[in-house]
Amino acid sequence: MKTITIHTGESYRVLVGHNLIGSCGQLVKTLFPGNRVLLITDSNVGPLYAERTLSTLRSAGLTAQAYPVPAGEGAKSLSVAEGLYTFLIEHGYTRGDLLLALGGGVVTDLTGFVAATYQRGVAFAGIATSLLAQVDASVGGKTAVNIPAGKNLVGCFWQPKLVLCDLDTLSTLPEREFSGGMAEVIKYGAIQSEELFQRCAAGVGPGDMEEVVSACVELKNQVVSVDERDMGARAVLNFGHTLGHGIEKLGGFSLHSHGESVAMGMVLASDAFERTGDTASGTTARLVACLSRYGLPTQCPYPIHEVLQECTKDKKRTGDSLNFVVVPKIGTAKTKLVPIDALNAYFRKEQA
Ligand code: GLY
Repeated sequence: MKTITIHTGESYRVLVGHNLIGSCGQLVKTLFPGNRVLLITDSNVGPLYAERTLSTLRSAGLTAQAYPVPAGEGAKSLSVAEGLYTFLIEHGYTRGDLLLALGGGVVTDLTGFVAATYQRGVAFAGIATSLLAQVDASVGGKTAVNIPAGKNLVGCFWQPKLVLCDLDTLSTLPEREFSGGMAEVIKYGAIQSEELFQRCAAGVGPGDMEEVVSACVELKNQVVSVDERDMGARAVLNFGHTLGHGIEKLGGFSLHSHGESVAMGMVLASDAFERTGDTASGTTARLVACLSRYGLPTQCPYPIHEVLQECTKDKKRTGDSLNFVVVPKIGTAKTKLVPIDALNAYFRKEQA
């Protein structure tokens, strides 16, 4: 098992290893002075792991019950959050209680958002069961719900007390979800670690996941520990995300997963900045080869002007410009403000 301490305002540990669900009761008990836990999970993950999680929590002397939400992006909504607030009120949950997310990115973001806002803030912790949640969503305290105007437009920063990345849960992950998580892993390699990128390009499998997941959490820690509130340095984690969110939106948040959209967004961005000379020649080809190895899409199916149109509504817009992450060479990243008026020129090849 590996332990990474995340150095945000209030530090917390991320544990990466096997059978962490089996010991979550004791782990939660040692960090949390209260004794009441609401386990928030979804209709895919709950049937697999909720009973076992509840029983280990109860064996540790905690009072625990589960609250299921529907699986899928639709659960990251104000109406599902409102349902949760109502449940919490009706069942007498107070600020001394703990919300525990059991699931992937959607459950993590929703639970964090409800924890941050219920009675002006209660503690939460996470058991991340998808690769995407383990390497990204569960770490760093970004919580959010979607609104019809876009993804993650309503949210706040609220750090968890503990994150458990139980590698055993990856074995029940559908292949497409595993690939989606690999897009974020490859992103860390592209922006921060040539070594991780090369490892992904050579092919990683189930036996590598403890090292791969903990490497990603370490890399994310390097960024969030210097810029918890996303005021500067943290922006590099958004490589491929500005265009990716546009693609995700055009697909109605259902045709393309988040990871697939980010994969296409990284290729679009790399290709554009290779043509301007900001990105080393050959980088896009390396990205495409690496992403393809995990069955990830590398060709955006939408006209670029439609993607750009969606991007201008993104929260990464700054005044009349969009903030893009540029990878000068694999393992490094910087940001570049591109005026909205100049966007078409940057992406002209795809427009032809
Ligand atoms: N997912 C990007 C971040 O946490 O900043």
